[in-house]
Amino acid sequence: MRKNIVAGNWKMNTTLQEGVALAKGVNEALQNVTANCDVIIGVPFTHLASINGVIDSSKLGLAAENCADQKSGAYTGEVSASMVASTGATYVILGHSERRQYYGETAEILKTKVNLALANNLTPIFCIGEVLEERENGTYFDVVKAQIEESLFELSAEDFGKIVLAYEPVWAIGTGKTATADQAEEIHAFIRGVLATKYGEEVANNTSILYGGSCKPSNAAELFAKPNVDGGLIGGAALDVESFMGIVTAF
Ligand code: PGA
Repeated sequence: MRKNIVAGNWKMNTTLQEGVALAKGVNEALQNVTANCDVIIGVPFTHLASINGVIDSSKLGLAAENCADQKSGAYTGEVSASMVASTGATYVILGHSERRQYYGETAEILKTKVNLALANNLTPIFCIGEVLEERENGTYFDVVKAQIEESLFELSAEDFGKIVLAYEPVWAIGTGKTATADQAEEIHAFIRGVLATKYGEEVANNTSILYGGSCKPSNAAELFAKPNVDGGLIGGAALDVESFMGIVTAF
């Protein structure tokens, strides 16, 4: 059966020193609780190796926030999936709406990144989600379905089984405006149906689908109580040990 997961996405926040301290804080907090979910932190590339050295990987997973769409070579400034893997990270967040929106990441580019991540034994946490206009005009089902189909549906069932999905409505990210638990459940159930049609019930039921967008300790339990919400991808609230742990312990 699928895993419950709470994953932090630190985005472009914290210096190396601040990030190591934050990771140590989360790691320490996890020694004192029995988390009923897998816990992951997604951190800037510059922090990966150092943080890997200070966390207990049996309790806390480590993710990069992106990787390149090329294997290696003359791509100044890029960081490849194999470089990410060599730091000890085992996850990579791909297709975050900020990457799609500000860095022009298309479905095609993301397909390549997913393949490179899998080839390097990284688990992609693949983000999907509609903008406000698409929510309001009711096209959000089609938008989310297309995002999944265009980047992921050439994968074999075996490879698809390695993917974690994160549904993040763009209108809820960093806005303080959370989708209601019913809104999240509606689209998560729809997504699982899309997966079942393509890969069958077993793969669909085994896929973790996280919710992201202004998730915080005060709303996490209600969201996570929904049958198709398998955890959260947490931005702002992941930058503080207490609030992140408040979400982890919502399970
Ligand atoms: P937020 O970000 O929790 O700050 O809304 C979530 C995300 O972008 O992953």
